[in-house]
Amino acid sequence: MAAGTWALRTGLDLDTVNVHLEALEAAGLLGITEEDGRATVWLPERVAGLPVSGEWEAVPDADWHAQWKARLEPVEVGSLRIVPPWKARPHGEGSATDGGIDLIIEPAQAFGTGHHETTAGCLAALCELDLVLASVLDVGTGTGVLAIAAARLGAATVVAVDTDPLAVAAATDNASANDVRVDVRLGSVHEVHGRFDLVLANLDTATLSSLAPALVARLAARGALIASGVAVERRSEAVAAFAAAGLPVWDRAGGEWVVLVGSATGR
Ligand SMILES: C[S@@+](CC[C@H](N)C(=O)[O-])C[C@H]1O[C@@H](n2cnc3c(N)ncnc32)[C@H](O)[C@@H]1O
Repeated sequence: MAAGTWALRTGLDLDTVNVHLEALEAAGLLGITEEDGRATVWLPERVAGLPVSGEWEAVPDADWHAQWKARLEPVEVGSLRIVPPWKARPHGEGSATDGGIDLIIEPAQAFGTGHHETTAGCLAALCELDLVLASVLDVGTGTGVLAIAAARLGAATVVAVDTDPLAVAAATDNASANDVRVDVRLGSVHEVHGRFDLVLANLDTATLSSLAPALVARLAARGALIASGVAVERRSEAVAAFAAAGLPVWDRAGGEWVVLVGSATGR
């Protein structure tokens, strides 16, 4: 058996495991799959002290790749379908028949395959907006999934920033795979000038709260904000930060994670 790949078969669903993504990534996470509501965490070695537990199984490398690829299901949100490159339909197919848009996202390079509730929630909110000719800023772009969705939904200019160079590389590659123009930059909201019709920010509560004034300052006169990464129990902290920055926000129906939306017209 080729050494090097271990499957940790948890009894937990994907959202619960995703809460511990940071610790799993620090342990060398290769990927996460879900079958029948139970997530399997794939790692290069057996690791002690992880925040999730389950049964360990050594898997030959070739098997792991095949299993992981086969099990990674596309995610459908509104008119969008997020697919890995090996499950993408030929260009244009799908849009003509069912009105859907395929977003090709290479997984396991950065956060943002659509499987997490925060990404899916932001995408659902995006689908409800008319983005034709809009200008969009995506702060914390990860794989670029939200920025690419905005571009595919008709936005004229899309700027995406991330403080992680790996995310910048992933988002740049994914934008090119989807044949859309996204200006991907290393950094954060402070490095971006101008105002945007839509500001996206799927971060974490502390970062979102500290960046709230800068995010609100980037909104055009009737601009909209879609923000997430906020666990439901920390909702009031993020809402208060945006209120203090002059933008009332409210949340869309969600589960463990909240998607906050706001409109600069309400200021
Ligand atoms: C939860 S992921 C969101 C990825 C993607 N936008 C999505 O919705 O799935 C958050 C991303 O924000 C980036 N990030 C963290 N702090 C940041 C900051 N202060 N400014 C910009 N990006 C940041 C991380 O590197 C990570 O890629």
